[in-house]
Amino acid sequence: MDIRRIVQKLEAAGQSHLLQFWDDLSPEEQADLMQDLESMDFTEINGFFAAAMVSSQASSEKVDSRMEPVPKDVLGSTTRDRDQLKAWEEEGLLRISQNKVAVLLLAGGQGTRLGVPYPKGMCNVGLPSRKTLFQIQAERILRLQQLAEQKHQSKCCIPWYIMTSGRTMSCTKDFFSQHNYFGLKEENVIFFQQGMLPAMDYNGKIILEGKGKVSMAPDGNGGLYRALGTSKIVKDMEKRGMAYVHVYCVDNILVKVADPTFVGFCVQRGADCGAKVVEKTNPTEAVGVVCKVDGRFQVVEYSEITLTTAESRGPDGRLVFNAGNVANHFFTLSFLKDVVNVHEPQLQHHVAQKKIPYVDTQGQLIKPDKPNGIKMEKFVFDIFQFAKTFVVYEVLREDEFSPLKNADSQDGKDNPTTARHALMSLHHRWVLNAGGHFIDENGTRVPAIPSLKDGTDLPIKCEISPLVSYTGEGLEDLLQGRELHPTLVIDENGIHELVKNGV
Ligand code: UD1
Repeated sequence: MDIRRIVQKLEAAGQSHLLQFWDDLSPEEQADLMQDLESMDFTEINGFFAAAMVSSQASSEKVDSRMEPVPKDVLGSTTRDRDQLKAWEEEGLLRISQNKVAVLLLAGGQGTRLGVPYPKGMCNVGLPSRKTLFQIQAERILRLQQLAEQKHQSKCCIPWYIMTSGRTMSCTKDFFSQHNYFGLKEENVIFFQQGMLPAMDYNGKIILEGKGKVSMAPDGNGGLYRALGTSKIVKDMEKRGMAYVHVYCVDNILVKVADPTFVGFCVQRGADCGAKVVEKTNPTEAVGVVCKVDGRFQVVEYSEITLTTAESRGPDGRLVFNAGNVANHFFTLSFLKDVVNVHEPQLQHHVAQKKIPYVDTQGQLIKPDKPNGIKMEKFVFDIFQFAKTFVVYEVLREDEFSPLKNADSQDGKDNPTTARHALMSLHHRWVLNAGGHFIDENGTRVPAIPSLKDGTDLPIKCEISPLVSYTGEGLEDLLQGRELHPTLVIDENGIHELVKNGV
């Protein structure tokens, strides 16, 4: 396309200001800008903006009055349905052994709150092993394949689809390649890229973050559904014979990737769509809540619920809207196909008001101190409304949910320290359940429930490789009756007591 065509295209869309610094740009900068502008569909972008502004102006109070909590008949629970857990797990392991279960990781976010210059999955939160989130998840897949194979005597594979964005694709791929796919087969780790959208001011003008650079951001984790179609991922899943997909977010250190119990529960309930939740106990916690709006299942995001509704409590004192979304979803492949082929265009973008750096008419970069524009995002859970049979699976927070959102700070939440502690205290419990116990430096047995001496609540330093145990299984033979010294690491090479050995 030549520059005149671009000029016409921009004029027609009311976006001519994007070329205001054209004459100041070097030939390379001009070529880059041309390439960016050529790839953008301005009619579609203007349409997204208009629709997003209309839907965001519908006041959230109106949503509040239309919200109802999740009805009991769609709920399954790891605590209330203990007698059924084994059957659900077996169902899930069977489906895995039949090569029917895929996992899909949403890893296209920018990790703005965490503030690291690389994708979140590459973070190591300071565990004794120094493993990254990506490695922990890969090893859980490997172990689960092994468990399903042992149970059903047949070789199986859980393909891992990883959605990245323009900003995270190349470093994510390089990282996996440098680490030999953490022991997985390269052909079973499939990367694909979500779309990007420009940031816009409140008048619908696209923002320039440099004289020749449009301000772009990923189109939200609901960009998944468009990307599944454009990248032919659904076709790949079909080719591999998949029937069920577990979709999850990168940042939860406790995530049970392809959780057979969750998958088995959804399959046995005949669900086409399911969500895992933990009980939300703090009204201001930054989790969305699964609920019904106008009779249809939905997540009302923490940024979209009013405080009054978030704080409302039932007669038992619990929050009325307490089904906290942990961003773990189950879909049948046939449901996903319908979403991609039929429903995706109906999904509205959510609007986030942001402080977006921009160049002023003099070409000076301005970093605003209050929101000056919007980013548009689709959300992964916005397809719940299309499910024919929707189920909700409630799990214990201390077993399954500790997200990494923020950088470390005193009294901080959801940061590397809280993630590390959550994993180590889970593994401490696994050791106790397997009949082991810890001895401190004076040879005294450490109580099972740590005392809060000095006001600190530090967990025992203990880490069990996912290659050894997926969810606490298989540890009795190793640990029954054993006295152990922290720092304890159990991996495929055995038991290591690092401090005892002076490491
Ligand atoms: C998300 C959920 C929220 C839930 C919380 C639990 C959404 C929209 N919100 O919130 O309901 O309670 O997790 O921790 O799912 N991502 C992309 N592409 C994007 C944006 C994000 O792939 O364009 C990925 C991120 O890499 C991450 C995940 O989506 O894995 C969640 O993104 P994040 O921004 O951290 O969501 P939260 O606001 O924490």
